[in-house]
Amino acid sequence: MKTAGARDTLKVVGIRADPPIPARPDPAALLSALPIPMLLLDRANRFRFVNHAAEQFLGISAAQLSQLSLADLVPSDNPIFQLIEQVRSGDLTISDHDMTLESPRLHKTAITVQGAPLPEEPGSVVLVMQDSSAARALDRQLTFRSAARSVTGMAAILAHEVKNPLSGIRGAAQLLESSVTAADRELTVLIRDEADRIRDLVDRMEAFGEKPIERGAVNIHRVLEHVRLLAQTGFAASIRFSEIYDPSLPHVYGNRDQLVQVLLNLVKNAAESIVGADHIYGEIVLMTAFQQGMRLAVPGSDHRMHLPLVVSVRDNGPGIPEDIRPNLFDPFVSSKATGSGLGLALVAKIINDHGGLVEVDDRPGRTEFRLHLPMMVEDPTD
Ligand SMILES: Nc1ncnc2c1ncn2[C@@H]1O[C@H](COP(=O)(O)OP(=O)(O)OP(=O)(O)O)[C@@H](O)[C@H]1O
Ligand SMILES: [Mg+2]
Repeated sequence: MKTAGARDTLKVVGIRADPPIPARPDPAALLSALPIPMLLLDRANRFRFVNHAAEQFLGISAAQLSQLSLADLVPSDNPIFQLIEQVRSGDLTISDHDMTLESPRLHKTAITVQGAPLPEEPGSVVLVMQDSSAARALDRQLTFRSAARSVTGMAAILAHEVKNPLSGIRGAAQLLESSVTAADRELTVLIRDEADRIRDLVDRMEAFGEKPIERGAVNIHRVLEHVRLLAQTGFAASIRFSEIYDPSLPHVYGNRDQLVQVLLNLVKNAAESIVGADHIYGEIVLMTAFQQGMRLAVPGSDHRMHLPLVVSVRDNGPGIPEDIRPNLFDPFVSSKATGSGLGLALVAKIINDHGGLVEVDDRPGRTEFRLHLPMMVEDPTD
């Protein structure tokens, strides 16, 4: 996607040689403090100026960059050169989304690059770069609802069309079991077990139904303790658990049983990633915190919902497989031989129904799923 606009969209304060106005902060210091990578290229695409964020972004110091041109960092067929040329020749501000800067020195994907001319220095181009993957992650969270919706309709059809004949098949297999040979009995048992497996799957999908949820004050620490106990007496018996709780955390405005379901799915995934990696020191950390300032727009209104409660599940497993990361919360996406891929889709659906948000922060050895949840405003009785 490309957008072009008037050239005054990006004002390059401070590179011109105006005398400094007293009592104003030093523009060079401002540019250096700007947390957005910004750089200035001359007409030969040599680096004339980079701010601190740009040094970090490119992983190269300003001193080194002053000896280089952009062509030393990215191949000459990279679309960024077209953008720069368009800025130069049209005297326009151009922004290009979803760019990739790929070379042996650099690996940046999903970058938004904005370019603007610097009228005082003809041929020079100011570039601002931003990693749009974080924004996209948030975007994705907000589209999970529709993914979950498509499952909702399917769940209803499946429940109706599959469950009834399935119980017939299961019953028939059971009847046959008493009259067949031992060898054939293995087959009837197989039919019964597989029918049970399909029924369980359909039961899980029914959880996506659009029932209005009953919400009230939920003590999330009790929910977490309940989930930890279930995990430690079952699928996560060999894993160490740590808790970092904020004891003064207000109650969540939510549905207790659904929040148990959400956390159980997250803890189960965490345990499976550790066990799957044959980790000797597997650890799951359950955390709660109060975070002022997280707000989310409510679709279709001007209202912004406050989500001050953070509940997170972190594990020291190998992280999320690269290939499924873009569709992590979609139904039926799984890297496990026996996984149905419904766990995270259900998590996304329930948290959406709560008006909350799921965030994933994942790197090798540290995978964290963070829930941002609304707070109960009235005094809880729980
Ligand atoms: N903590 C985690 N660490 C690494 N990968 C994870 C983690 N949580 C989820 N994943 C990845 O996301 C995929 C989808 O998870 P999800 O819970 O939706 O399905 P599943 O666990 O495969 O199957 P199900 O939950 O239905 O039994 C998993 O298969 C796994 O690859
Ligand atoms: Mg799962």
